[in-house]
Amino acid sequence: MGLGFIGIYKWSAAFGEFMNTSSKKIDHKKDEQRAKGAEAIVVFEGDVVIKQRLEKPYREKSFDDAIRKKRTKKEAKLMQKAYDKGLPVPKVERVEAYIIVMERIKGKPITVSEESAKKAGALLKALHNIDIIHNDLTPANILDRKGKFYIIDFGLSFSSKRIEDKASDLFTTATSFKPFSEAVLESYGDVEIIKRYKEIKKRMRYVKD
Ligand SMILES: Nc1ncnc2c1ncn2[C@@H]1O[C@H](COP(=O)(O)OP(=O)(O)O)[C@@H](O)[C@H]1O
Ligand SMILES: [Mg+2]
Repeated sequence: MGLGFIGIYKWSAAFGEFMNTSSKKIDHKKDEQRAKGAEAIVVFEGDVVIKQRLEKPYREKSFDDAIRKKRTKKEAKLMQKAYDKGLPVPKVERVEAYIIVMERIKGKPITVSEESAKKAGALLKALHNIDIIHNDLTPANILDRKGKFYIIDFGLSFSSKRIEDKASDLFTTATSFKPFSEAVLESYGDVEIIKRYKEIKKRMRYVKD
């Protein structure tokens, strides 16, 4: 029982609302682990992951609450949509005001290689086919479980049919797989969107210089 236990204990005490309504009580002794990003706190608990969107102290409280609720709902909705369409994403188990309880993918973030870049390009295309813009599909947000790749972290995602949105999403992913950006494009395969991607790339160069 190390520091991890204390961290989890404090965390779960602070979010009593979830604990009281959750049918599955958190077992503090099992599987304590935390990963902290800027937007959310993630707790691993047996077969599930609990992702809680954090308060932003610089935002007015009621505004902050509303915004976090809205974004949590949206994140869960898009993840659910992808799951329903058969894409490899964690199953959403439960949604609370600021919390998503989802299936835990027991795997590791992928490493950059030509092969992983190819798989990522195909996954991005599958999302775009159902008009989901992931907005952060980088190696850190793809988990490898026994060779199968899972897309996680829909925290910045939104729905769109626009070519510009898809192309800029492709830019984010392709750039994150450098030096294998070409492999991402190759498996992504959509000529019209790749054309726009190239225009965006030119624009970016222009901005940089
Ligand atoms: N469903 C999941 N299964 C396993 N690990 C997860 C899952 N969701 C998140 N994680 C882990 O938690 C980390 C942070 O979660 P993520 O959804 O990416 O939030 P953030 O917005 O903080 O990046 C991930 O990089 C991953 O290691
Ligand atoms: Mg992430």
